[in-house]
Amino acid sequence: MSKPTFYITTPIYYPSDNLHIGHTYCTVAADAMARFKRKTGYDVMFLTGTDEHGQKIEKKAEEAGVTPKEYVDKIVGNIKELWKLMNISNDDFIRTTEPRHEKVVQKIFKQLYDQGDIYKGEYEGWYCTPCESFWLDRQLVDGKCPDCGRPVQKAKEESYFFRLSKYAPKLIDLIQNNPDFIQPRSRANEMLQNFLLPGLEDLAVSRTSFKWGIPVTFDDKHVIYVWVDALSNYITALGYGSDNDEKFKKYWPADIHLVGKEIIRFHTIIWPAMLMALNLPLPKQVFGHGWVILEGGKMSKSKGNVIDPVTLANRYGVDAIRYFLLRDMPLGQDSQFSNEILINRINSDLANKLGNLLSRTVSMCDKYFGGIVPEHGTVVPEEDDTIKSFTKDFAEKLEGLVNEMRLSDALALIFDLADILNKYIDITMPWALAKDESKKERLQEVIYNLLEGLRMISVAIDSFLPETADKMKVQLALSEEETTFDSIKPFGGMVSGKALCKGEALFPRIDVQKELEELEKINPTVPKKNTLPIKPEVTIDEFEKMDLRTAKVLAAENVEKSDKLLKLTVEVGDSTRTIVSGIRSKYSAKDMVGKTIVIVANLKPAKIRGIMSEGMILAVGDEGLDALIATDGEVESGVSVH
Ligand code: ME8
Ligand code: MG
Repeated sequence: MSKPTFYITTPIYYPSDNLHIGHTYCTVAADAMARFKRKTGYDVMFLTGTDEHGQKIEKKAEEAGVTPKEYVDKIVGNIKELWKLMNISNDDFIRTTEPRHEKVVQKIFKQLYDQGDIYKGEYEGWYCTPCESFWLDRQLVDGKCPDCGRPVQKAKEESYFFRLSKYAPKLIDLIQNNPDFIQPRSRANEMLQNFLLPGLEDLAVSRTSFKWGIPVTFDDKHVIYVWVDALSNYITALGYGSDNDEKFKKYWPADIHLVGKEIIRFHTIIWPAMLMALNLPLPKQVFGHGWVILEGGKMSKSKGNVIDPVTLANRYGVDAIRYFLLRDMPLGQDSQFSNEILINRINSDLANKLGNLLSRTVSMCDKYFGGIVPEHGTVVPEEDDTIKSFTKDFAEKLEGLVNEMRLSDALALIFDLADILNKYIDITMPWALAKDESKKERLQEVIYNLLEGLRMISVAIDSFLPETADKMKVQLALSEEETTFDSIKPFGGMVSGKALCKGEALFPRIDVQKELEELEKINPTVPKKNTLPIKPEVTIDEFEKMDLRTAKVLAAENVEKSDKLLKLTVEVGDSTRTIVSGIRSKYSAKDMVGKTIVIVANLKPAKIRGIMSEGMILAVGDEGLDALIATDGEVESGVSVH
């Protein structure tokens, strides 16, 4: 009989910045799920990859002075390394720049065009480059992108459109009548209320204003909208539309698309509509997880916290990171990250509860039975009841929780067993039993029960913390048969008579204060915003000496041999002048041309890198550069600012 299949995906990641601890949540959660399904008898397909096209990547590559492909190749290499380090067991890794993907996306686009689901029109609206999203006037929040709050650009161009509106009734029906389709359920209401019920517009699905994308085969000044390109990865990776679509036939539809909450919209509206148009089955579930956040924000640039998963994994071990992510992120909600929270978790759960339990038990077995797993002894009902009743439906409960994606609860259940075993040691006091020869049989039973409980933990935890489970299996000398999922359904599967293999502590305790100081050295805390002391008073007359003016940037170029400086030619009323300014960390020459900014016009000229700079640009930022002072509305240059 062939195994049932299980297809799980993560989003494909933008190779734009190095990934932080938050990004690893999704792959680690999907990995735990995939491992668990394999362990419980499924033929699993677990896919992840990278989403490599789009204007954002094109821009970043340009800034870095390399081709987009060179730019992404390097970062994709790092991402693959990261997943290897994190023990991610993906069965495939798809890059949207691979021919196996590009060709099929082109085919899909052509098919939709030929059948009338895509048509040519003109797009007018707003575009948020970081989010690669189009917005209508009414969707903006305070004139900014409703998703990320950043400024949007007016976009008007010839574009192909996908008849998304046509699918609105079917989508509404899908979401209202399939309670499992969007999880957690509250997200479904959000999709209905915010997007579907107010009415869907057709979707612009091609762009002509940049090149880094998959060309439309029949109109090659157009590239295909990145989300149409990206979402298709879930089927192109299976060989859909290619010469070999065996995997597609076997695994599609997906059982779970695991995605962050901000991209549920794309996965539950655009993606099913595309599939409907292609006449393909829909994914069974889109699960929206929360964000790992730092002090109230998503993962912005780290402030005093080390959020690089490689650094963290090297310091504490991969499983400590996996444990934190899986344990601290309850179903669909956000969770706070700080190094302190992470270290406390490691100490309290991994070192104290689990690590201690294993080393105490193995040591006692060593001391009392020469390290040989004892035979069962006499059972004392009152003392052993808790263990026996807790473990009775332990495996079944665990499976239920994981199947509902309640990974945090699943880990809590496993650690409840550790708590019970630790308490069992306190109650039974093996050291006291050891002193009394007549209690030998009871001592055997107690040590056996502890070892059996630990065996169950190691089997249960192995999808979550694979490295730790392996270490436990070595110390407990477990055979293949003693590590199957079925073997932990009944209590008592631990084989007696074999020699344990005492090893090192699973998780050394961390000295919290010392460790936080070390981390502070790696990544010094940035002083809190707005806490710079106010400078000594000036009089109004002193202030009035400064001549602040608007200035329009006519031209801009990089200053040679500097990566910070721009040379700007600005118009101030009826004259022009040169200003050298250290704003390139944030603004490229191209960004600056056409901007009207504010300058100190009577600052004594100074030579910077051999260029005479006549004035200074006003900018905002305590230390770095947060923003330029800009004018609110159309203003001439040379106008005084006061
Ligand atoms: O959205 N906490 O890519 P992406 C938890 N390319 N999850 C986080 C997170 C955080 N702090 N930061 C990011 C994209 N993520 C598209 C997907 S799929 C066809 C295309 C998650 O690199 C985020 O929620 O911006 C998303 O699920 C994933 O990382 C990839 O984000
Ligand atoms: Mg994102």
